[in-house]
Amino acid sequence: MKTRAAVVKKSEGEFCVEELELGPLQKDEVLVKISGAGICHTDLIARDQVYPVPLPCVFGHEGSGVVERVGDNVSKLSVGDHVVLSFGACGECRNCLQGVPSRCLKIFECNFTGCRHDGSLTYSSTDNNIHASFFTQSSFAEYAIANEQNTVKVDKAVPLEMLGPLGCGIQTGAGAVLNTLQPAAGSSIAIFGCGSVGMAALMAAKAIACSHIVAIDLIDERLQLAQQLGATLTINPTEENVIEKIHQLTGDGVDYTVECTALPAVFRQAVDSLNNTGTCALVGAAAPGEEVTLDMNSIMFGRTVTGVIEGDAVPDIFIPQLINLYQQGQFPFDKLIEFYPLDDVQRAVEDMEAGKVIKPVLRP
Ligand SMILES: NC(=O)c1ccc[n+]([C@@H]2O[C@H](COP(=O)([O-])OP(=O)(O)OC[C@H]3O[C@@H](n4cnc5c(N)ncnc54)[C@H](O)[C@@H]3O)[C@@H](O)[C@H]2O)c1
Ligand SMILES: [Zn+2]
Ligand SMILES: [Zn+2]
Repeated sequence: MKTRAAVVKKSEGEFCVEELELGPLQKDEVLVKISGAGICHTDLIARDQVYPVPLPCVFGHEGSGVVERVGDNVSKLSVGDHVVLSFGACGECRNCLQGVPSRCLKIFECNFTGCRHDGSLTYSSTDNNIHASFFTQSSFAEYAIANEQNTVKVDKAVPLEMLGPLGCGIQTGAGAVLNTLQPAAGSSIAIFGCGSVGMAALMAAKAIACSHIVAIDLIDERLQLAQQLGATLTINPTEENVIEKIHQLTGDGVDYTVECTALPAVFRQAVDSLNNTGTCALVGAAAPGEEVTLDMNSIMFGRTVTGVIEGDAVPDIFIPQLINLYQQGQFPFDKLIEFYPLDDVQRAVEDMEAGKVIKPVLRP
């Protein structure tokens, strides 16, 4: 079938909407008519080949939509279901079998190779070998082919076009707090970087009743929004010393930090802001090979650093939980979203890169 989709042809190139030919579904796949597709920082680092996904490629990994067709072996979903598309995992490795798909041993193959597990392409070869299957979806398009495994059925009572970001960025930030760190009520936490991932972490910290919630960002408007969403202290590092401010607040540092910038210097600050039994969750996705320097004693005295992929979430369980929190007014992630038509994808990307919008969502 024909579909319009946003294609990137060269590294750091523009997103251009073109009409392409989607091939047939395999037995474990679903065809989804996309209602909304969030843009995540990870789409941009793949475009720029920081993660070397083959080009030309259709990106997009925060899709939501309606199931239009299902493969013969699909049992979890039916035509007409409302769904959110999340990350791919093999379902067969030891970590998938243990219920931790975010640690799938084939996470790279399932999300970043530009093709299916068997090497085939979802778009027809007459379209000059367009790569897709990005996060097993490539949802910057009117229609996307996903797998039953990464397709999550959701409540039809919630506006479908805003749910896509739950598939990656929002799930990642919220899960870093709710699944990975699991702070007790009354704990202190600092969030470094208030993009969509950091804001989701912040809203989760508020929902789980952290007492001190510190938000750090370079953009004052983001700090103002962070305050509305529950931050008890905001810090702009261009104006104030982050570590000093955090120590003034708590005496000896915070219980938890979440690093959402992917900058080594900020990661170091996130570790140095902890009290001596605190834990830092590293979420920012740096280029392979990026190194950081830590004071070894800061770790030896009892601090912990842990990496988090996709919020350590099982999307079929966690995304409906986040939707419940949203419905109860405890997780207002809609405040981060601005909609753009699919044809304006390049403008949406530029607005995001300029810091004008936190979470652009394309509406094909
Ligand atoms: N681990 C995962 O599974 C996963 C999933 C999704 C995204 N990510 C990564 O998480 C990171 C955040 O994603 P996002 O979509 O929120 O990105 P974003 O670019 O919207 O947010 C980053 C924020 O950091 C702020 N910032 C920049 N320099 C800073 C500094 N020195 N101090 C404090 N704040 C600073 C920026 O102003 C911005 O608001 C990215 O690196 C992304 O690739 C990781
Ligand atoms: Zn696996
Ligand atoms: Zn993402």
